[in-house]
Amino acid sequence: MADVRVSKLHTVNGEISLPGDKSVSHRAAMLASIAHGTSIIKNFSTAIDCQSTLDCMRQLGVAIHRDINNIHVRGKGLRALSKPGDVLNCGNSGTTMRLLCGLLAGQDFSAKLTGDASLSRRPMDRIIKPLVNNGADITGEKDNRFAPLTINGKALNNIHYELPVASSQVKSAVLLAGLYAGGAVSVVEPVKTRDHTERMLDYCGVDISRDGNVITLGENRQPGAREFVVPGDISSAAFLIALGLLIPGGALCIKDVGINPTRTGLLTVLEKMGADIRIDNERLVSNEPVGNLIVRNAKLRAVDIGGALIPKLIDELPLLAVIATQAQGRTVVHDALELRVKESDRIAAIVAELKKMGASIEETGDGFIVDGPTPLKGAECSSYNDHRIAMALSVAGWTADGETVIKDADCVGISCPEFFDLVGSVT
Ligand code: S3P
Repeated sequence: MADVRVSKLHTVNGEISLPGDKSVSHRAAMLASIAHGTSIIKNFSTAIDCQSTLDCMRQLGVAIHRDINNIHVRGKGLRALSKPGDVLNCGNSGTTMRLLCGLLAGQDFSAKLTGDASLSRRPMDRIIKPLVNNGADITGEKDNRFAPLTINGKALNNIHYELPVASSQVKSAVLLAGLYAGGAVSVVEPVKTRDHTERMLDYCGVDISRDGNVITLGENRQPGAREFVVPGDISSAAFLIALGLLIPGGALCIKDVGINPTRTGLLTVLEKMGADIRIDNERLVSNEPVGNLIVRNAKLRAVDIGGALIPKLIDELPLLAVIATQAQGRTVVHDALELRVKESDRIAAIVAELKKMGASIEETGDGFIVDGPTPLKGAECSSYNDHRIAMALSVAGWTADGETVIKDADCVGISCPEFFDLVGSVT
């Protein structure tokens, strides 16, 4: 795998648009596949993870045609997916595997799901338990905790589940299984997590309602075919936002980014830190809030974050550790235990690698503590084959003195294959 070398950037400015949001793209591909009629998904994510979803849906008999970043999906309706001829390989993608468990639980065929080494280490009992407790037949390795998973599709009846962890993937899997259930379906989440599935089901005409943290499916559960326009991926935009804040220059404008409030925790935190980020042209596109972000270099101060904010920026926390090294004071992140079961143990990974670069950062059980500001120095860093760790460390390298080597940096393709080119276009 390729290593990437980065060194200090002296200016960042210009205008940029990003490929479509990964979370929204996965869901659009799945819902379009079970809709009646042809859907068009515009600005579909270029992430390898979303390609895994498309490959799995094709194996389930769905005709999908890709013309650059627009996807045409000939939906088969809820009841016409077909038994795959082979194992469904979800690659590195937790969202693919977990949402597919929901989608496949109520089919009249069985299927087997596998993933790469990282995905095979991630907890799948969080998906198996709720579905099995509600009538599904899903088994996994090592006491039903890990992939490969075998799903023997079965008729489902009533579904009710109260999530013990804040996870949109679990919530979404239960809702997708619920589309096939004969009875009442409701899910309760402990705090609000990203709500793309609910918004998209609503956009596709499915009866879905929310009362506090309880989400209920109504009578019509057949999604309709639609044109979807996927907003730019805010989790990829985050790295550019950080560069705009940390590196002097003019304004950096990131156009047409998804600003769903369940995803904008980083913007909330950066604002508290004293960042200068303006949002304009706010609008709703395919039922998702979208806007342009205009970012300027700013002096930052430390923050203390935890609680209900964490799910709104869970994927951005390794990057926040990098940003905190340049902020005045002590930043504390807590309640983020979930970070330990992502593509890597992201608490251990970011703390170990930023230490190599001279940061004052310590690991805690459920987060980290950073004292800043500290000038970073170039180092040879491991990406842990985790896309978000590779991109967070690249940002650190672009602010550091000397050269930073990111080992196996092509893992950025998991969420943003064009990451280094995008940064190159504004520096
Ligand atoms: C995702 C939900 C989050 C997030 C992941 C994508 C999704 O995971 O970390 O990158 O698309 O639903 P959890 O649901 O495990 O919190």
